[in-house]
Amino acid sequence: MVIYIAGASSGLGLHTAQQLQAAGMTVVAGARSFAECEGRAPDGQYRLALDVRAEASVERFVRLACEKFGPPDALICAQGLLNQNAAAEYTDQELNDILDTNFLGSVRLIRQVMPLFREKKQGKIILFSSINGLLGIPFQGGYTASKHAIEGYAECLRMEAKPEGIEVCLVTPGDHQSGQKQYRRHGAADSPESPYHQRYTRAVHQIEHDESTGSNPDELGKKIAKALCKRHLPARLLIAKPDQKLAVTLHKLLPTKWFSAIISHYYGQL
Ligand SMILES: NC(=O)c1ccc[n+]([C@@H]2O[C@H](COP(=O)([O-])OP(=O)(O)OC[C@H]3O[C@@H](n4cnc5c(N)ncnc54)[C@H](OP(=O)(O)O)[C@@H]3O)[C@@H](O)[C@H]2O)c1
Repeated sequence: MVIYIAGASSGLGLHTAQQLQAAGMTVVAGARSFAECEGRAPDGQYRLALDVRAEASVERFVRLACEKFGPPDALICAQGLLNQNAAAEYTDQELNDILDTNFLGSVRLIRQVMPLFREKKQGKIILFSSINGLLGIPFQGGYTASKHAIEGYAECLRMEAKPEGIEVCLVTPGDHQSGQKQYRRHGAADSPESPYHQRYTRAVHQIEHDESTGSNPDELGKKIAKALCKRHLPARLLIAKPDQKLAVTLHKLLPTKWFSAIISHYYGQL
């Protein structure tokens, strides 16, 4: 099985790539930081430079991967950027960075692999969403918007691709012990002059605590490997601790004001 995976230099993308490799799959791993170390890595993965924000880089990644290993059986979009700020204070640049990386970057990859899947009359697309693709939390408005964009897009893509034998799965992780600080940016709300500063600091403290005590990223990688080995992909893999799964259920069941009050309290806003 040949897998192309974006965002495989760090975090959940890296752990997933390692688990797929361990399961005997051929992994073509893409990330910007592979520009200096393209080719076969010691762990067996084949690395190629990839910047999902640049169409030419995405085209090159898919072309070189296809020349070397043939068309993929699956594409995994695991790249990500988390830009934290107050919803009302995000700059256009901050929102552009996050949407371009998390959402448009995946669309660029899908555009390139779709003709390859179509030729084989089969293919699997795995898009990394997040619990934030299903519900919002304070000071992650840009990230939450990007993940909601992926959710809506995937729902449409799934219906359009199915008749061509192409399946779409949303991976929805809760907090995992994986993300690197370099991909967590802080906007104006982080400044002591910001009217949001104190509440921002409390929320970010909780977010960082939850990530550092989060789930094991290798287990997520194993679940994705298992799903890929089955004949059909599930529409969604929600991989989270029980309290985060409960939050998803409560978000569906409770009146919006009640749910917002619970989440606000949890993140130190009330
Ligand atoms: N960690 C969690 O708890 C968690 C929870 C829910 C969802 N997620 C989702 O899981 C995915 C991985 O997140 P993470 O926190 O585990 O990883 P991370 O440590 O934040 O790593 C981000 C990855 O994305 C790549 N990337 C960033 N910009 C890129 C670009 N322009 N082109 C290509 N690759 C790019 C980075 O590689 P280069 O810098 O080398 O390009 C890196 O490999 C993301 O989609 C994230 O939203 C994570």
